[in-house]
Amino acid sequence: MTPKRKLIAGNWKMNGTLEANDALVRAVVAGMKQARCDVALCVPAPYLAQVQMLRHGSTIDLGAQDVSAQEQGAYTGEVSAKMLREFGVRYAIVGHSERRQYHGETDALVADKARTALANGVTPIVCVGETLAEREAGQTVEVVKRQLAAVIHVNGHCISEIVVAYEPVWAIGTGRTATPEQAQEVHALLRKQLGAATAQAERVHILYGGSMNAANAASLLAQPDIDGGLIGGASLKAPDFLQIIAAASA
Ligand code: PGA
Repeated sequence: MTPKRKLIAGNWKMNGTLEANDALVRAVVAGMKQARCDVALCVPAPYLAQVQMLRHGSTIDLGAQDVSAQEQGAYTGEVSAKMLREFGVRYAIVGHSERRQYHGETDALVADKARTALANGVTPIVCVGETLAEREAGQTVEVVKRQLAAVIHVNGHCISEIVVAYEPVWAIGTGRTATPEQAQEVHALLRKQLGAATAQAERVHILYGGSMNAANAASLLAQPDIDGGLIGGASLKAPDFLQIIAAASA
């Protein structure tokens, strides 16, 4: 089997301005001509149209950072998967730890968001990960398995269509990265869990996220079950993001 292309997804979070986005996307487009990995930018909803235009002519895929679990209707403030599709969105992050933590998103809601995304042709990037307290209490395996199990339970028939992102909460935005071995251990167990639900677990991209940067990307991406990265802070700096893309193209 030829190894699958890695996927490098930038998560801008709630950052950007029209002017800064313009410079950033142009620099990424110009710098990634030789990329042999897939690249996506998950941008704030108001900037989807801008980035859709800026990425034109490149292979960059567009992503959103969240999606409603509902199809349409009286859900003030929500953005539907159908609307995202109209803007050419290919991916939507669901269940990011910041949404679980600050917006009370439960495993069940995350599973429903994944289902609605899939039903509308948007690939969910399902985030799982333990907090520092959970890791120190030896609960890492239990937590990530529970989070993924909820998504498998609701989406079992098309689970090979999702992307999974393992993002230890203690590594997000902290500069404290999981070691390649720590990350690989969790990725392998997530792959095994997917394998119990689908014969195609090998084709599922399992991304690592949490302070991935230009310096540590290569060693993380060299792990057998790390199929790419979900990049926060470093995706806002074109040179850093391009170095990660280069590491994923090696
Ligand atoms: P970070 O964020 O790269 O800034 O740690 C990753 C994420 O939250 O997706």
